[in-house]
Amino acid sequence: MQTKRVAVITGAGGGIGLAICRRLAKDGFFVVVTDVTRERAVAVANELVDEGFEALGFALDVCRDETAVDSVFAEIFKCTGRIDVLVNNAGGSAQLIGKQTDFVQSEESTWQFVLNLNLLGTMRCVRAVLGYMMAANYGRIINTASIAGRCGLPGWADYSAAKAGIIGFTRTLAMEVGQCGITVNSISPGLIERMRPGKDGKLPQDCQSKPTHGNWLGHTGTPQDVAALIAFLASEEAGYITGEDFLIDGGRAIGPTSQAGRQDLFKSQDGGIKA
Ligand SMILES: NC(=O)c1ccc[n+]([C@@H]2O[C@H](COP(=O)([O-])OP(=O)(O)OC[C@H]3O[C@@H](n4cnc5c(N)ncnc54)[C@H](O)[C@@H]3O)[C@@H](O)[C@H]2O)c1
Repeated sequence: MQTKRVAVITGAGGGIGLAICRRLAKDGFFVVVTDVTRERAVAVANELVDEGFEALGFALDVCRDETAVDSVFAEIFKCTGRIDVLVNNAGGSAQLIGKQTDFVQSEESTWQFVLNLNLLGTMRCVRAVLGYMMAANYGRIINTASIAGRCGLPGWADYSAAKAGIIGFTRTLAMEVGQCGITVNSISPGLIERMRPGKDGKLPQDCQSKPTHGNWLGHTGTPQDVAALIAFLASEEAGYITGEDFLIDGGRAIGPTSQAGRQDLFKSQDGGIKA
């Protein structure tokens, strides 16, 4: 059995997930990197190992049925002997399948894709780890919601519904498993930069924020900012916090920073709309 605390991160082959892996590795965790493709998960795990950390990579498609998801967690547990922390980071919007529209033009198959990836994927992974965490009488579960689930975001109705669902799921689960030493919280990021591969195809170590008019701090967040919040929620110091959703949005949810239309509120200066 691993002597280090073990953290499993979903959707960890890029973006925010990669930053979470790196941060938790630096904080002394044995990191289990999972992503929809094995290649990506193993590449990130190998990068961490090359940097002197301990990590393993597994293929985990959170959209597959519960049996498939359960069996990946069983395999992980077989290798590590413990699962202390689960970070449900895998998620995304209808943009992933090129189907993002206002709700009036949307299709049910798109809602199903978005709800499955974000909400049901989170629920599947949580149920897969609960047995291990309950047996250990210890666990930290951190789910990824979004400002879209807190404030709404025009053009993203299915995504907003899925992320609001994650917040509700988090609260109830916290009530059900609190007596088992398990805390359950969610985070709601606002505008966060995405890590983009360089010319060599490799993802950078970190990425910089950019100016934006979309929040009160005047700049976008970075994957490292999100990773720092998650590292705290995964830590021993956060042991008395459960059932809460944490905004990390540069103050965007305080209220709009201008009278301009929705495009201005959610656009970063490179033109990308994010939530
Ligand atoms: N970037 C933002 O501005 C922002 C804002 C709010 C919330 N979020 C949330 O943060 C999380 C990470 O976002 P990101 O910006 O890093 O996204 P990203 O698209 O850069 O990374 C998402 C990762 O999830 C993986 N993935 C996709 N489908 C999967 C599946 N079926 N099973 C497992 N993994 C899968 C992808 O391979 C990728 O590595 C998501 O849940 C997203 O909804 C992001």
